Amino acid sequence: MSTQPRKRILTGDRPTGKLHLGHFVGSLRHRLRFQDEYECFFIIADLHMLTTKPSKEDIYAIGENARQIVLDHLAIGIDPAKVTFYLQSAVHEIYELQLLLSGLVTVERLQQLPTIKDMASAANLDQVPYNLLGYPVLQAADILMPRAHLVPVGKDNESHVEITRQIARRFNNLYGEVFPEPDAYVEGGTLVGTDGQAKMSKSLGNAILLSDDSRTVKKQVMSMYTDPNRISADIPGNVEGNPVFAYHDFFNPNKAGIDDLKERYRAGRVGDVEVKEKLLVALENFLDPIRERRAHFEAQTGLVDELLYEGTLRARKEAEATLSEVKKAMGFTGVWNRIRRAVEKRQKKGRQGDKETG
Ligand code: TRP
Repeated sequence: MSTQPRKRILTGDRPTGKLHLGHFVGSLRHRLRFQDEYECFFIIADLHMLTTKPSKEDIYAIGENARQIVLDHLAIGIDPAKVTFYLQSAVHEIYELQLLLSGLVTVERLQQLPTIKDMASAANLDQVPYNLLGYPVLQAADILMPRAHLVPVGKDNESHVEITRQIARRFNNLYGEVFPEPDAYVEGGTLVGTDGQAKMSKSLGNAILLSDDSRTVKKQVMSMYTDPNRISADIPGNVEGNPVFAYHDFFNPNKAGIDDLKERYRAGRVGDVEVKEKLLVALENFLDPIRERRAHFEAQTGLVDELLYEGTLRARKEAEATLSEVKKAMGFTGVWNRIRRAVEKRQKKGRQGDKETG
């Protein structure tokens, strides 16, 4: 047994809703693999959600969405004893750290990021709010707070980890070594939506949720986009760029069966319905154990809230320790201590003086 503490991972999601197959392919399956090797912190990034969804209704929905995200993780096989789930907005040290880091990156650098513009246009914002520009700085505070070594993110978030590294480097140079420079782990794999047009996303209606029941999955699969030129089963079809086959490749373990289907599809010797029915079987086999685990954890009333609560307390402890080191390194602790000591000294003298004269 090694006595070295395990390296740390920090990653997470904005609590905008339940997770889907695209999340599984893009990130959850990597988390599953990482949970044994690393000490994992999974942040529910609700303050980040505030950049594009700031209404009171949006904020009200955070609680239930956070619960569902935790359940999604448990359902795919994340062991609650191994990882820490926590709610970003309940860790006030993150707000403080973000401000302290905000001078270590320039407005120009942030403005050049395509992610900020993309998020603004996706949310129909014609102007960029201050917190949206600061999105990567808040993310840096998330990552640096538990002093994470590895940050699994999608390709689109890689630039944010790069900014985090820059901020960590500048901080260490200016004030002394506090932060490890975290590495990005760029997750492989994206899953196209059932419409075959865009990346799977709940808001586009092209998603299959990890929590969907059989009926819903069947409806989605049977109406999936395939090769639009095939008006009948005897027309040779396109396998490449065909979402039904992309899903087969990922979710159907029967590789020989897939090859056979592809061959017949290309030759115009199989109908779309058969290809979809086989995909449905594969997806059901994939989803069934996930549904079972979800039901198992859901049946334990209050368990998910407790995990979030305890996890947040644990994250807060880490946050307190880091922030205290940050303030010490920057010199703020010293400034305040001098003031406090002077006052204490004066008050003590004052009391003695009072005694002498009184
Ligand atoms: N930006 C991530 C997203 O696209 C969410 C997130 C917030 C995050 N803080 C993080 C990811 C820290 C990794 C590390 O939803």
